[in-house]
Amino acid sequence: MTPKLRSTFSCQSCGYQASKWLGRCPECGQWNSFVEEQTAASGPRSPGRVQRTGMKPVAITAIGADEGARLPTGIDELDHVLGGGVLPGMVVLIGGDPGIGKSTLALQAAGRMSHAGHAVLYIAGEESAQQTRLRADRINALSEHLLILPDTSLERVLEHIDRIRPLLVIVDSVQTLSSELLQSSAGSISQVREVTARMVDVAKTHGVAIFLVGHVTKDGALAGPKVLEHMVDCVLYFEGEASHAFRILRAVKNRFGSVNEIGVFEMAKDGLREVRNPSQIFLSERPQDAPGSAVICTLEGTRPLLVEAQALASPSPLAMPRRVVTGFDLNRVSLLIAILEKRLGLHLYGQDIYLNMAGGIRVTEPAADLGVAAAIASSFREQPLDPHSVIMGEVGLGGEVRAIPYLEARLREAEKLGFRRVLVPEHNRPPETFSGTIEVSAVASVMTAFELLF
Ligand code: TYD
Ligand code: MG
Repeated sequence: MTPKLRSTFSCQSCGYQASKWLGRCPECGQWNSFVEEQTAASGPRSPGRVQRTGMKPVAITAIGADEGARLPTGIDELDHVLGGGVLPGMVVLIGGDPGIGKSTLALQAAGRMSHAGHAVLYIAGEESAQQTRLRADRINALSEHLLILPDTSLERVLEHIDRIRPLLVIVDSVQTLSSELLQSSAGSISQVREVTARMVDVAKTHGVAIFLVGHVTKDGALAGPKVLEHMVDCVLYFEGEASHAFRILRAVKNRFGSVNEIGVFEMAKDGLREVRNPSQIFLSERPQDAPGSAVICTLEGTRPLLVEAQALASPSPLAMPRRVVTGFDLNRVSLLIAILEKRLGLHLYGQDIYLNMAGGIRVTEPAADLGVAAAIASSFREQPLDPHSVIMGEVGLGGEVRAIPYLEARLREAEKLGFRRVLVPEHNRPPETFSGTIEVSAVASVMTAFELLF
């Protein structure tokens, strides 16, 4: 009996399903994003749902607590983000804009692992086997243990995995595979979900580690990997500006490690290079003694990063002066400007203000507030800040400087990079365990901070 086909309409942006076509998605608000998809209503197994049978309830204490041996991928920055390497049965989604370097990273990891003698299967759905070989040549990933399979049928791919039992499978990309059980085209929400569900199942049953590569497009035209985040163990996003060589790999979800860990890479001729000391890179082109430049410290996961905040304030011909911000929150900058006007009497309302985090990094931590405020004031007053100081602290509406987490790690990073002085929130008081030689000045308000700085 052929299974009856059921028609559903799903939003290609967020995966919301409806029984009829809708102009606007009630879930994510996207316009014109519904596409009709056919799913088998009954049959041997409904798509998207994988059943594991023969399981009985077990006492939690009777379950082994050993998470298994971590296998390093050979790329330290990637291992750091994963929480120490790959685990058998782990499913990792690597998302990012097209052209950012996802395939390069995946192939590089595949190359390193196969050089160590492990069998790796690379499903090349986007590029031909030959193209993949040429790329592997460039990035030194050739090995006889690395198997390339240019196929797009999910069922055939699963058969190969079952037969070969590789240690690591790379699916490049999850949007190119499709299941014969579904009528909808490859890349649609139902296909992408089905592919992921079956991959997760094969990973858990055979203990195979799987990397799924997925594109995120800005307009959400392709089924974004967003809908898959809850199905996989670990979600890594590859970020970076096309105009910069730096790439940041960020863990936004990790069932086996901590989130928000980052790995920093640089795109070179022979693939991605690990950046061991990112702070140095972000500060490398810093002008000395130029007004408007301040060094701040942001924490990415457990890793402190020193970044240069650059501000430019110049008299505006406009009734509504410009506020242009890259790499930091615009609202936060507006708030800091208001505090500088109100609490410190800086006349910034007639000024165009530009703020930029050097190196193309995005800073989200409020610990950068005090440094950003100092950079703006420095440009406005045409007074350079001390180039050997790092400025840390969150700023409250009253102009008070608030405590920040993990001060010790930040102090160590500043000291490691040869800075002589740090401004820290008074409430933080450097921990007794910190025995550095760097001069630590504690400040309670923006006002006292500026007395020390200018
Ligand atoms: P790619 O890994 O194909 O991106 P994605 O899979 O995320 O779409 O990387 C594409 C870019 O990287 C492309 O613009 C070329 C560049 N690149 C290098 O600069 N050096 C290299 O060694 C490789 C392999 C790619
Ligand atoms: Mg690719």
